[in-house]
Amino acid sequence: MKILAIESSCDETAAAVVENGSKVLTNVIASQIAIHKETGGVMPEVAAREHIKAIIPTVEKAMEDHTWDEIDAVAVTKEPGLIGSLVIGRISAAVLAFAKGKPLIEVNHIHGHMYANWLDTETEPQFPIVILTVSGGHNELVLMRSHGDFEKLGETLDDAAGEAFDKVARLLKLGYPGGPAIEKAAINGNPRAVEFPRGMKNSWDFSFSGLKTSVLYFLQKDNRLDEPQFVADVAASFQEAVADALVEKLMMAVKKYKPKEVHLSGGVSANKYLRARIERELDGQAVFRHPKKMSYCTDNAAMIGGAAYFMN
Ligand code: KG4
Ligand code: ZN
Repeated sequence: MKILAIESSCDETAAAVVENGSKVLTNVIASQIAIHKETGGVMPEVAAREHIKAIIPTVEKAMEDHTWDEIDAVAVTKEPGLIGSLVIGRISAAVLAFAKGKPLIEVNHIHGHMYANWLDTETEPQFPIVILTVSGGHNELVLMRSHGDFEKLGETLDDAAGEAFDKVARLLKLGYPGGPAIEKAAINGNPRAVEFPRGMKNSWDFSFSGLKTSVLYFLQKDNRLDEPQFVADVAASFQEAVADALVEKLMMAVKKYKPKEVHLSGGVSANKYLRARIERELDGQAVFRHPKKMSYCTDNAAMIGGAAYFMN
């Protein structure tokens, strides 16, 4: 079964053709990063206008090597996301499905991120799976017993981890998007240079807004942003605090539910330091997976095509 999938929930206009939920035939992403770099974050109205410009060329590119006869269904991100951005993808997908006589499958964006770990896999993931899905807009720990069966174990009570990366990068004047910039700066830093708080200890829920505020207060007292080593130390200490909080809850879930597999997904799953920490703490207790390609970590349409196949 081949699905044409469309994703436009935030600042990437994306279209993909995916076969049987895992074989990615085409995956096209029109990124708005260069535009949002200027404002240091996504302006919803600007993002929506860019989606209008990009949606038709992006879908056309994804369909370049395919005919409509090959396509069995059209999938699209339903929610959550920026409303002005979502609506462009949803209307486009609905019109295409109607005009071409194909079923329309609406997919939750967070479920899409979870199914990014099915893309390009040689061996199919085995249930039960504990999934930590972390991006700019969401932060959830989920127990997945079968396709479509998700039990939410914990979530953020305020900022998502990716959002904290973006906000702290802005404080450190490292630019947008913050996650990759902090990860790069942290390579040369000492993760124990500053003791930032680890929010919500011993709870299933996450909180990152206190950590962000604590970085802000720290920088109000000591602001040597012109010293690369200082910036590296603050970045590494912040990244360590985020990783500690994420890994603590993930390991609580591993201990309680003894899953066959542990998955990391969402934009923050691109972080190699976090991946290595999880791998180390898991120590072979479960198979560890993260998206096979960096482009499947951040927003993309292939993951929407995967979720649409398995959950339909
Ligand atoms: O999944 P995504 O593209 O969009 C949302 O659904 O929110 O995630 C984007 C988020 C941003 O906050 C970005 O800073 C973060 O993922 N991110 C990272 C890394 N790459 C992207 N965070 C930490 N380390 C990274 N390497
Ligand atoms: Zn996302």
